[in-house]
Amino acid sequence: MARYERITSESADLQVLEALLHNRRKRTQRGEFLIEGVQAVNRALAHGWPVRAVLVPAGATPSSWAAETTAAALDAHPAARHVAVRADLFARLTDRQEAPELLLVGEIVGRPLAELHPPAGAVVVVVDRPSSPGNLGTILRTSDALGAAAVVTVGHGAHLFDPRVVRASVGSLFALPATAASGPAEVATWLAAWRERAAVTVYATDEHGDRDVLDGPLRRPAVLLLGTERTGLARGLRDLADVTLRIPMAGSASSLNVAVAHGIALHALTR
Ligand SMILES: C[S@@+](CC[C@H](N)C(=O)[O-])C[C@H]1O[C@@H](n2cnc3c(N)ncnc32)[C@H](O)[C@@H]1O
Repeated sequence: MARYERITSESADLQVLEALLHNRRKRTQRGEFLIEGVQAVNRALAHGWPVRAVLVPAGATPSSWAAETTAAALDAHPAARHVAVRADLFARLTDRQEAPELLLVGEIVGRPLAELHPPAGAVVVVVDRPSSPGNLGTILRTSDALGAAAVVTVGHGAHLFDPRVVRASVGSLFALPATAASGPAEVATWLAAWRERAAVTVYATDEHGDRDVLDGPLRRPAVLLLGTERTGLARGLRDLADVTLRIPMAGSASSLNVAVAHGIALHALTR
């Protein structure tokens, strides 16, 4: 069983944990991130995600969920630290109004894009520089729910291991492969390798696309390309597309939220 530790002051240990909340570089350097939310915590443990620490607020009486989850996490990960953090300091480890009952420090599991080998008939979702963690988390959740094989982010956008992404994904981050590509060139190389094994169709999405998303069946295996919230798809990704899908717009809005467009297009591809 892990040794019980305490954080009672503004120690260096606390600063590191605090940095995991907002600082992507620190997360990457340390290879760890915060997991918050009942469902996200439950699903991280259910999927056997590596856990480095269980953090709890000092002095609080845990609910039966918190007590059982702490015991299960420490049992499954004997090397994990068990840390009681002074309650006011613990509250600084979340950006929510109400502090959670426990937090996990998870290990960032690197999955290079080149090692992603989708199965027959798969749909892989590729998101260009998503700026909103909420949108990225929702895309992960919907991709998992509708049966996409993986989610790939491209370029500098929201970090897959940002606690807000983890929370919005409601734990789907732990259920399906998710990886970050540096730019369109890396996606093009990976796609070329996949195309040596399978006839992959690449669908871009754009409100001015050539083809109505509901016009006839779509082909799989497929890549579904989604653009940035502000400027749409980068040229380097758009150039990879065989077809550009349009979700017809009836009202005065010029485009859909990217996570909503993703849900509609992915449903059309996977139904
Ligand atoms: C908010 S939109 C980007 C709008 C931006 N003004 C542009 O130039 O494309 C973000 C992404 O959602 C998807 N999207 C939004 N509305 C869409 C629609 N009606 N049809 C297909 N895709 C759409 C596309 O992937 C788009 O790049």
